[in-house]
This record gives sequence, C-alpha cells and structure tokens, in this order.
Amino acid sequence: MCGIIGYIGDKKASEILISGLSHLEYRGYDSSGVALCCDDKTYIYKAQGKLNNLVEVLKTKEDICSKATKGIGHIRWATHGLPTTLNAHPHTCNCKNFTLVHNGIIENYQELKEELLSYGCIFQSQTDTEVAAHLIAHEYGKTHDLLKAMQNAVKKIKGAFAFCAIHNNEPDKIVVAKRNAPLIIGVGEGENFIASDIPAIIEYTKKAIYLSDYQVGVVKKDSIQIYDDNGNLVINKVEHLPFEAMAISKMGYKHFMLKEIHEQSDVVRNVLSGKLIGHDNKINLDEFKLTQEKIKNITRVQIIACGTSLHAGLVGKYIIEKFANIPTDVEPSSEYIYRDTIADENTLVIGISQSGETADTITAIKQVKEKNAHIAIITNRADSTMARLADSLLPVNAGIEVSVAATKSYMAQLISLYMLAIYLMENKGITKFDNEIKKIKQELIELPNKIEALLENTDNIQKIAKKYSSYKDFIFIARGINFPSALEGALKLKEISYINATGYGAGELKHGPIAMLDENMPVLAILNSGIVYDKVLSNCEEARARQAKLIGVADYIADKDKDLFDDLIIIPPVCDLLSPALNIVVLQLLAYYIAEYLGKDVDQPRNLAKSVTVE
Ligand code: F6R
Repeated sequence: MCGIIGYIGDKKASEILISGLSHLEYRGYDSSGVALCCDDKTYIYKAQGKLNNLVEVLKTKEDICSKATKGIGHIRWATHGLPTTLNAHPHTCNCKNFTLVHNGIIENYQELKEELLSYGCIFQSQTDTEVAAHLIAHEYGKTHDLLKAMQNAVKKIKGAFAFCAIHNNEPDKIVVAKRNAPLIIGVGEGENFIASDIPAIIEYTKKAIYLSDYQVGVVKKDSIQIYDDNGNLVINKVEHLPFEAMAISKMGYKHFMLKEIHEQSDVVRNVLSGKLIGHDNKINLDEFKLTQEKIKNITRVQIIACGTSLHAGLVGKYIIEKFANIPTDVEPSSEYIYRDTIADENTLVIGISQSGETADTITAIKQVKEKNAHIAIITNRADSTMARLADSLLPVNAGIEVSVAATKSYMAQLISLYMLAIYLMENKGITKFDNEIKKIKQELIELPNKIEALLENTDNIQKIAKKYSSYKDFIFIARGINFPSALEGALKLKEISYINATGYGAGELKHGPIAMLDENMPVLAILNSGIVYDKVLSNCEEARARQAKLIGVADYIADKDKDLFDDLIIIPPVCDLLSPALNIVVLQLLAYYIAEYLGKDVDQPRNLAKSVTVE
C-alpha cells in the first residue's frame, strides 16, 4: 500500500527519495509524488501511474533537484478519491507553506473538513490527507511551531496515520507522527531518513528508531527528538535493521516472484533450524511461551488471517486438530471482527501475517487480546505491529518478500504451523501418532531437497502454462489437507494473470460449480496418493464427462488412470500430510509462467498491495 520516505542531510534529496520509493514500489501503488526543499521554498512534483512517470517529471527540474537536500516522498494506493495526479501526495494548505505525506486513513475527515471549510480552507483533492494537511497548517497558524501544530492536530484526528510534514518557515526539520501505521527514522551521520518500511532506507543506514503510536518526532540532519503524547521528551532505542540491501535484489531472476519461489527450500531449512533436530527428538519451540500445564488446558484454537496467510491457516487447522486434538476454527480477520467471538484464557489465538501490518488482522488480534486469550503471531516481520502484540512471537524468517503475490512466506507459515501442531501434541503428552510423526519429521528434513528437485526441472510446467495461458477461466479442485492448496493455487493465478480462477473442495463440484464445466473451463485437480486419491479421481471423471480439460498434479498416478488427464505434473513422492508444501510450488510456478506468457506485471499486479493497512 502507500509508502513514505523522507530525507534531510547534505545529499541530493531527489535521488534518495526516488531510490527509497522504488524500494517500496513492491507494496502496490497507483501514483507518486515528492516535495523538494531549497532556498526556503518547497517544490511539489507528482505523477499518476508508475514511479518512472515521476522520474520523467523530475528530469525536467534539474535546477531544483541539484539543490534540494531535504524532501519528503510518497507512493499512493488510492482509498479516498481516484488514483489521479491531483490526489497524489504530497498535499498542502492554502498558503502552500506547509506540506504533508500520509499513510493510513483519517476516519473523521468529513467532520474535520466541514470545520476547516468554515475557516476558509480551499480543498484541491478528494483525499482525507488534504484534510490533515489543512488541519496541521491551521494549528500552525495558531502556534507558529511545526512540532506543536502536529501535536495539537493529531489529538483531533481519528483513524490511522503515519505523517511526514515540512514547513517553509522551519527549513531545518521534518516533523513526523504515527498511530496504527508504521514509521521508522533511519539514523545516519549528518543526515537522517524517514520511511514507512525498511527497504526504503536500508541501502543508506542499518540503524533506525521505531516511532510508537501517539509519538511525534522532530528530525533534523544531526538530531532526532521524540515526544510522547503528553509532550514529554522520550528516548527510543536505536535498533539494528534486520535486512541486507542484497535481499531486495532480483539476483539474476526475471522477477522477484520467481526468485522467491526458488528460495523456498532454504526457507524450509531456516524454519526447521533449531526446532527440528532429527526425527527422534521433540520439537523445540522456545518462542512459544505457554507452559505445558497451560497447553494441556487449551480448549480451542482460533486462527485469524487474510488471503494467502488464511490458506496457510486452513492447513494449520487440519494438522492441529489431527495431532493436538484441539478444535480449531479458521476465519478471515475481516469477518472475525464483526462477530461475537467466544474466547477466554484457555483459547489459543494464532494470527498469521506475512507483513504483520494487515489492518484487519491487527484489529481482530487487539479485540481478542482483551478476552485474555494467548496470542501467538506467525509473521515474516518480527519488527511489525502484530509482532509487538504477540504473547508468543513465532518469526518465520523467510527474508523480505518483494513480490506482491506471497510465495515463500506461505511456505514458511506452513512449516511453522507443522512445528506448532507437533509441539502442541508433544506437550499434551499425546503419543498415539509417534510413528507417523517420526516419519513426518524425517520427511520435513528431506523436504528442501524435494523442493529443489522440483525446481530443477520446470520445462513441463512451462509447457503446460503456455498451453493454458489463453483460457479465461480455471477451476482448482482438491480434498482434505490439499483443499487449501486449491484455494491458494487459484488465488495465485487470479492475482497475477487476472484469469478468473476458483478453488473448490473436489466434493463440492457436483453441488453447483459443475454447471460451468465445458471445453472452455480447464480443471486442475490435486490428487496425492493418500486417503482422498480415489475420491478426487472420481471427481475428475465427472469433470472429464463434461469435456473439461484436465490437469493433474500428483506424486503418483496409477498407469490405468493416466489417460484421464490431458496433462500431468508429477511431484517427488511425499506423504499426504506434507504434500501441500510441494503441491503449492507447482501451483505458484504455473501461475507465474501463465502470467509471464501473458506479459503481465508479475511482481506488481494491478490493484493489489503488499501490505493492506486499511480495513
Ligand atoms: C496473496 C497475498 C495476500 C496476503 C493478504 C494478507 O498473494 O499476498 O492475499 O496474503 O493480504 O497479508 P498478510 O499475510 O501480510 O497479513
């Protein structure tokens, strides 16, 4: 979603702002803009569409770009008002002395706008951000102090915000503030940075201060001062940023998505490292803070997540119920919020989120935290808002995921859920699955090699992708533990190729979706050699009888059954319970190559954002 960058120092601000914004592009956006300061004036440049359009505009402003050593920048993902140049940030006030960029949503913007209109404020855009700009500028009119103006204004604002503000009368500073939206201050020498996420500044500094909610900061080139909501000066720790600049390079791959798909074997090794040491040993999960006694008292598990993370949660339900014998519900966070959910101190709530910043999941977690449930967070961002809400933080350490379509973070979430399910089982003293668990642990250890084997030869998948890339619709079917694989495979395909793809439990096909089947509707069936093989095969027969083209993804297909399929993708042999971790690699690749044949913007699909920070 939206991204913020700010710079104050001696270097060319325009270059740092554009480079920072380019590292936030992966989050999804539809317009961009910068404000550059020199000679006590502020120059605002904006463009609709890709960041390159803004770069083109700046090429014509070389005089300003060469002088400006302070500036703020933004990429916008439209919420209030169309994705036009006018609505792009930065926004300003009547006298144009004050300039603001903003992430988040101002909930009471209508109310504030009416009040500001009565003071004579003139609005140019349809955005809620412009309301905040006028509000802070109005407060400046009373205080003549940017810090005080910000402090007064944020008290009047309802909603979520990360602000980065400048005023022509105070050229030595940038003032920042945040509530329920991330903002960090990158610490440099003789220069400082502001960003909504680490990739924007990692190439310049590895030291940063995380601003907390309700804090306001004054950033100068050689000092940073932070104030709490009572106006007291506070000291925030300077933290070491966890990423290498390398992590945001494509490393020779055509797209980040392809690179991230190929990183999945190492991602599995990372998650297992230190937790699973040989198939005879118990799972070691120090991060999980519930005592054995409390684990035995857990009466229910609730998994809350969105999108791809939700699909990982559905696999989690299957294995937690099977091994740990605890009833488990999985629900999209956006629905969980609006129900009278039942939870108490014996409830384990598992929030799953790649970004750790998904607004719906944050709200759901905050809501259930009040009921004293134990909150475990599985996230790829140990520095995120969600991580800070966790009673037990289970970081997945998949490395930064740049492609908007989640791949390696899904893999990491799956493996973390296997670890957690087995850990719960072992701590409850359940022994009846001991032999099966030994086998699964051994297979988990072998999984990275199997993923690598699969990735070594993708010719067949590429050929099938090409063959099916002209279809407009797709159905994915599976049963049991691979039902979520069907949902996730369909989601990947629609996200990056815009083909209408839907995942169904294979048994549900005949209860409605079968009406859509004909030669124009390919069906992709996931059939592993486990308990549901025969049943999924019957569902494939039903599809075939309606002339649907059939693609099978399986670790084994009996010779007698092979003719049923138009195309087959055979994965390395794997036990039924671990098969989602291999099947998904095939489905990710299929989606990737189809989108690539169609010439789509694989890493930044239209309308999507990497981190969905609005409810
Ligand atoms: C799909 C995708 C989204 C996210 C969803 C939740 O490829 O990336 O569906 O999974 O927006 O995001 P997180 O996991 O960051 O909470």
